[in-house]
Amino acid sequence: MPSLYSKKGVIGRLLRSKCLFLLFLTACCSPPEDPIKCSSNNTNCNITNSYGAFPDRSVCRAHSVVYPTTEQELFSAVASATMKGSKIKVATRFSHSIPKLVCPSFQDGLLISTKYLNRVLKMDMEAMTITVEAGVTMKELISEAANIGLALPYGPYWWGLTIGGLLGTGAHGSTLWGKGSSVHDYVTALKIVSPGGREDGYVKVRVLNDGDEELKAARVSLGVLGVISQVTLRLQPLFKRSITYLTKDDSDLGDEAASFGKKHEFADITWYPSQHKAVYRIDDRVPTNTSGDGLYDFTPFRSTPSVTLAVIRTTEESQESLSDDDGKCIGAKLVTSSLLNSAYGLTNNGVIFTGYPVIGYQHRLQASGSCLEGHEDKRITACAWDPRVKGEFFHQTTFSIGLSSVKNFIQDVQKLVELQPKALCGLELYNGILLRYVTASSAYLGKQEEAVDFDFTYYRSKDPLTPRLYEDVIEEIEQLAVIKYGALPHWGKNRNIVFDGVINKYKNANKFLRIKNVYDPLGLFSSEWTDQVLGLQGGITKFKEGCALEGLCICREDIHCAPSKGYFCRPGKVFKDARVCSRPKFQKRCLYQLPGFD
Ligand SMILES: Cc1cc2nc3c(=O)[nH]c(=O)nc-3n(C[C@H](O)[C@H](O)[C@H](O)COP(=O)(O)OP(=O)(O)OC[C@H]3O[C@@H](n4cnc5c(N)ncnc54)[C@H](O)[C@@H]3O)c2cc1C
Ligand SMILES: *[C@@H]1O[C@H](CO)[C@@H](O)[C@H](O)[C@H]1NC(C)=O
Ligand SMILES: *[C@@H]1O[C@H](CO)[C@@H](O)[C@H](O)[C@H]1NC(C)=O
Ligand SMILES: *[C@@H]1O[C@H](CO)[C@@H](O)[C@H](O)[C@H]1NC(C)=O
Repeated sequence: MPSLYSKKGVIGRLLRSKCLFLLFLTACCSPPEDPIKCSSNNTNCNITNSYGAFPDRSVCRAHSVVYPTTEQELFSAVASATMKGSKIKVATRFSHSIPKLVCPSFQDGLLISTKYLNRVLKMDMEAMTITVEAGVTMKELISEAANIGLALPYGPYWWGLTIGGLLGTGAHGSTLWGKGSSVHDYVTALKIVSPGGREDGYVKVRVLNDGDEELKAARVSLGVLGVISQVTLRLQPLFKRSITYLTKDDSDLGDEAASFGKKHEFADITWYPSQHKAVYRIDDRVPTNTSGDGLYDFTPFRSTPSVTLAVIRTTEESQESLSDDDGKCIGAKLVTSSLLNSAYGLTNNGVIFTGYPVIGYQHRLQASGSCLEGHEDKRITACAWDPRVKGEFFHQTTFSIGLSSVKNFIQDVQKLVELQPKALCGLELYNGILLRYVTASSAYLGKQEEAVDFDFTYYRSKDPLTPRLYEDVIEEIEQLAVIKYGALPHWGKNRNIVFDGVINKYKNANKFLRIKNVYDPLGLFSSEWTDQVLGLQGGITKFKEGCALEGLCICREDIHCAPSKGYFCRPGKVFKDARVCSRPKFQKRCLYQLPGFD
């Protein structure tokens, strides 16, 4: 989760008093820009993600983009591309996935944007379902459903995702209750548009219903089966929840993590390993007549003045270049305490936080993302990771580990912290490690068992060949998870190596591939990236100078790290099979080098 200081935060306040004039001089922003840029007339286009950078930092090209506004326009776009045999990819309003899912392989590919396929089509009170076009965002879905007294019980915490996109990657929230926290498991029907033969007019439209074998493929599709045009979701009557954050020492986290999720319906845990703290979200349904009108406006998802973002990034860059781990640890404590003191952006009534529990309606508490909106005030603000301003730039490593292995994994991470107590302070600048619960899904590419999903967010240099402070520790955690504990990646996040050989971890992968072959025999919706991920084309790993620094490879030789900067390929410290870029003689680069000391 991206960090920190909103305009109401510590630094925000400081800046407003000290450098007000600067705020007015800075140019631009919010809401986020369209991820697709074309040179003219919707042709000759580039597409990126909302962070402005894919894992390998390549620019993705497409011949053109279409913005269908009706199903008919969508059908004809797919038909005409199919007739030409061109590659097709579905793009969304914000393009929030990190991996290169949205890139057509070739420059002559077509992008179909769901930006204007964003209508709510039908709400059925009796069946408690909602049918939407795939470009509808979480925010729109939540508010439309609430208008008629319904709620999506579980889902991602971020408003900006589209229904099509979150089905594409299996996005989720946190619960072990019901069918679990993945939105795709609440889909009761969907309509999908795929290439057709000449006899079909080059486009084939299928409606899949609950119980259909093929729906198990389409629930989590990586976008390779065709364009999902409509989705029907099962909802529940709008309800209230009660939230309390409880801070504890993390010494028994390994024991607690698995069982905590069974005690509270919306449980999650935010872990600050260097501070030895875990913040437990005690979060359950309460009767609707319980008083309270709480609101969640998660601080890191609020608009932040661009000048604040620049100061934070500059600070982080200088801590990196000076190996100032103490500075990071001090910063981490400041960020954590200010988030905790402000209840992460929860208020009891939409205005102020007066204490726990915060009680309110589901639709006001389940997700947020106020930085997506153009802001009323004149100050120049943006989402913290908006690439148009100097702000956050990070990697995200996100995977799920089966409940039965969670304790061992957590203890391995704790051993690493013992060896290097300051190594993970950098993570805490991005609000620590988020632990959320997921359950086994019937989706072929969905979760295979009950598990805890871990989210790590950490500094990424603008220069792909510059190593990160304590590079080795996070690399070791990444490999521990993926290799030792067989973790499954979030399809919409992560660095490339996490996907290496991943398809072998899905027991029904073959069924998925068979259906993909039926829906899109020529692979028009596939790309080099999806073929690699699905095991249909050579490995994901690319060995070249510095490849391990960006997670493009696991190092084998020193040159894959940064030997000239003191980083060499070495075994892990806790997980000996890991190969990580480490600085053997870790020492601070001092501002003033005293003679005789080094
Ligand atoms: C601030 C932030 C918070 C986040 N929070 C969460 C969270 O709480 N939980 C979580 O699980 N994830 C979270 N994510 C990650 C996010 O869930 C995934 O990246 C998500 O899939 C992106 O959705 P999108 O609409 O932006 O889709 P995109 O990234 O644009 O697309 C994802 C894939 O789906 C395909 N696709 C999109 N629409 C269609 C369609 N109509 N038909 C067929 N294929 C389609 C695309 O081609 C692509 O392959 C977060 C991301 C951000 C930036
Ligand atoms: C697309 O990216 C290329 C390479 O970075 C750049 O030269 C070109 O101007 C970009 N096109 C658009 C429309 O932004
Ligand atoms: C722009 O696109 C439209 C629709 O495809 C087409 O009719 C028109 O001729 C194009 N204009 C230019 C200048 O290419
Ligand atoms: C809520 O409703 C239940 C039954 O419908 C009732 O027993 C209870 O007293 C009510 N609680 C409050 C706080 O009004």
